[in-house]
Amino acid sequence: MTIKIKKADAFKAIKKEKDNSIDLLITSPPYNIGKEYETKKSFDNYLKPYEEFAKDVFKKIKKTGSVCWQVGNYVHKGEIIPLDIPFYSIFSNAGFKLRNRIIWHFEHGLHASNRFSGRYETILWFTKSDKYTFNLDQPGVRIPSKYPGKRHYSGKKKGKPSGNPLGKNPSDFMRITKQDWDKQIWDFPNVKANHPEKTDHPCQFPIELVQRCVLALTNKKNSVFDPFMGVGSTLIGASMHNRTAIGYEMDQNFISITKKRIKELNKGIIKIRKLGKPIHVPKKTDKVAQLPFEWLK
Ligand SMILES: C[S@@+](CC[C@H](N)C(=O)[O-])C[C@H]1O[C@@H](n2cnc3c(N)ncnc32)[C@H](O)[C@@H]1O
Repeated sequence: MTIKIKKADAFKAIKKEKDNSIDLLITSPPYNIGKEYETKKSFDNYLKPYEEFAKDVFKKIKKTGSVCWQVGNYVHKGEIIPLDIPFYSIFSNAGFKLRNRIIWHFEHGLHASNRFSGRYETILWFTKSDKYTFNLDQPGVRIPSKYPGKRHYSGKKKGKPSGNPLGKNPSDFMRITKQDWDKQIWDFPNVKANHPEKTDHPCQFPIELVQRCVLALTNKKNSVFDPFMGVGSTLIGASMHNRTAIGYEMDQNFISITKKRIKELNKGIIKIRKLGKPIHVPKKTDKVAQLPFEWLK
């Protein structure tokens, strides 16, 4: 399927896309927290351009289309502002309807000392209209039921299985790993480096997260768009499932990494964490699961 990559400023370039042409926009914008690819601004100045941007996005999305807007916290002098709060208003004012506020929970990250450690970010799933694509039964979307043997205990269906043979609805709480704690990694100080998908980008999407949204919210040959592409995780997730993909990025290094990853995808040698792979839980006998001998004194 076609993949288009543009070195472009998303706020300007989006205006040139065809109206009603995109089935799914999935992205994670800069959070204004001073990462290497952004210039920290006042919070109001940071948000302002997104008001026009959301209105432009509304024009470009098809009637049946969706936006998945993934954000974490803006942090200023130790105070946090969950970015989904202002972005909800911005997208809602542009005409979008919120269908889910998905919690993306991950197990590892920085350990805070003056508040509880943050272990989730959110994905705001908006649709342009009430007639939107939602493929709950598409393979890869449902997850295995906890109790598939459960049966109705009364009524007309008494005695019949109460679940769905395809599995259960994955819910708005997605446990998707950012870092893979496989056994051999316990010796490494920086676990982030051990995720099979890790590149030089400081905050890339796990492709598994993209795949869930792509499978549930689009059909084959649909178009998927990431205006803040980074190292192309959205484009890869879309392409793996026969969707066309468009990405914008301002940083040439990230564009080069994206192109390299796409070449690897086409050759079948890209390192990707398998969709639905269970998250590693250490066994009691693993050394890292045991109390250090110093604490046992
Ligand atoms: C949070 S990162 C996205 C990471 C991406 N989801 C991935 O998996 O690699 C945001 C990206 O937006 C890019 N960016 C920042 N401002 C931009 C703009 N105005 N237009 C296009 N890209 C921009 C940054 O260089 C950065 O790579």
